[in-house]
Amino acid sequence: MTSDLRQRHKFARIAVPAAVLLLVGGAVTVQSSAPAAAAETTLRAAAAKAGLFFGVAASPNRLYSIVGQEFNQLTPENDMKPDRIATSSGGLQNTSGADTLVNHAQSNNMLVRGHTLVWHSQAGALQGASQATLNTFIGNAINRWGSRIAYWDVVNEALEDNNTGRRRNQWPHTMNRDANGDGDYFDAGDTDVIRDSFIRAKQVVQAGGLTTKLCINDYDVEGLTVQGGTPNRKADALYDIVRNYRQYIDCVGFQAHFNDNPNSIITDDLQANIQRFADLGVEVHITELDIDDDLSNNDIGTGQAENYRKVVRACLNVAQCTGITVWGISDSESWRSSERGLLFTGGNGSYQKKSAYHAVLDELNKGRNSTPPPSTPPVTPSVSPSTPPVNPTTPPPTTPPPTTPNPTTGCSATVSLNSWTGGFVATVRVTAAAAPISGWSVQLTLPSGATVTNTWNANRTGSSGTVQFSNVSYNGSVSAGQSTEFGFQGVGTATGLTPVCTAA
Ligand code: G3I
Repeated sequence: MTSDLRQRHKFARIAVPAAVLLLVGGAVTVQSSAPAAAAETTLRAAAAKAGLFFGVAASPNRLYSIVGQEFNQLTPENDMKPDRIATSSGGLQNTSGADTLVNHAQSNNMLVRGHTLVWHSQAGALQGASQATLNTFIGNAINRWGSRIAYWDVVNEALEDNNTGRRRNQWPHTMNRDANGDGDYFDAGDTDVIRDSFIRAKQVVQAGGLTTKLCINDYDVEGLTVQGGTPNRKADALYDIVRNYRQYIDCVGFQAHFNDNPNSIITDDLQANIQRFADLGVEVHITELDIDDDLSNNDIGTGQAENYRKVVRACLNVAQCTGITVWGISDSESWRSSERGLLFTGGNGSYQKKSAYHAVLDELNKGRNSTPPPSTPPVTPSVSPSTPPVNPTTPPPTTPPPTTPNPTTGCSATVSLNSWTGGFVATVRVTAAAAPISGWSVQLTLPSGATVTNTWNANRTGSSGTVQFSNVSYNGSVSAGQSTEFGFQGVGTATGLTPVCTAA
């Protein structure tokens, strides 16, 4: 965990009244003021008090006073995309719009999210480039703004639509090679544009001593499930990527463009999904939030304001969810103006607050959950590609006591639960004893009425009563004393789970 995040958590715990967080050049400082307990009246102040940022996508021609008044984070909506700033050889051009936005953010004490380095869309002159050219561009872009950019979207929208769980099949993902044919790109002999781009970005950050954090960003990854309770395979695929490349990835962005598409609705398990990524030790951000105002068939709320409230609450309830960004100021100026998905009406600098605005402000003013949901220690990645050290943002482990003996051979398992009325997510940690293992299985017995609906990072036999989980191809080998994790989601109540681990 970084010092600024630690500072935020410390601040949240001590809950000093009327103290505000000031965001200065990417760092967070605490400033005390008069001992009043009044609710904050701007989104940025309420968010800062709760220990997160509240941001907006912006363009140079719309830097009205509201931007600095209401928001303390800024994402260039289009001005840092490769089609604006990249040359075909990976150099930079036309950076004036991006410079204007970064300068505006800095003079208004706003964090900046760089958006975006590697993306199949809006690639401009980089379209079709080799990894070497992408790496050149990554280096040039990161170094131009250095630590003035708090977060960079290194890879954007790598996964296919329609809940397939697959990578996209267009450039730059056409560079990927599954050398051993095992169905993933995680092995040392594989080629993976995601891994290689993050390795390059991490090298640049480390070489420059930058504080910039490196994120992966996607849409339709928000819930554990999609409409109808089907597992969200796109979210699961993103989870596998972050888990495998944890040493390069500092943060995960859920775009959160919520609309009527079955894969894009707000589901009840948004918080649980944020939590499982947080449990990997990364920060989670809601990066491009807009909510169609016609989500009457949504399963968690009937009105836009109510839906906004629920998304904000899901983030607030997970300590590692450290920021929310709305994708524009007003409905009329949104990329999706017909869905009226933002917090303001009006335009051109004259804006009116919608009920969604008041709901968000009210929810932010309530602050974070006083009893944070359980978290599990970060996972030891199952791949160990050549380079950087383990990321320093890893939070201190909160390991529960093992529920099976920890002998010198074999394995042990612990389980942590995140429950809500009618459902739960379990994260199971498998730890090898004093000798390495090459496979594992975990058995546990669910209470009557509990049923598993979704599993990740494990094969499963059974869904109720005694359920058996075993390793998948990429996480069976665990070094001595090291751990791996899998998870499952279910309906009903799951208490008193006692996992029994057997090594293969
Ligand atoms: O600026 C030109 C203008 O001069 C020209 O007359 C006009 C004619 O079409 O185009 C204008 O550029 C448009 C640009 O937005 C600025 O408004 C582009 O055509 C249009 O394609 C571009 O759309 C952007 C879109 O990304 C492109 O994929 C949206 O503004 C932007 O909000 C959107 O943002 C993406 C995120 O980057 C990634 N996640 C999804 C999100 C929504 O699609």
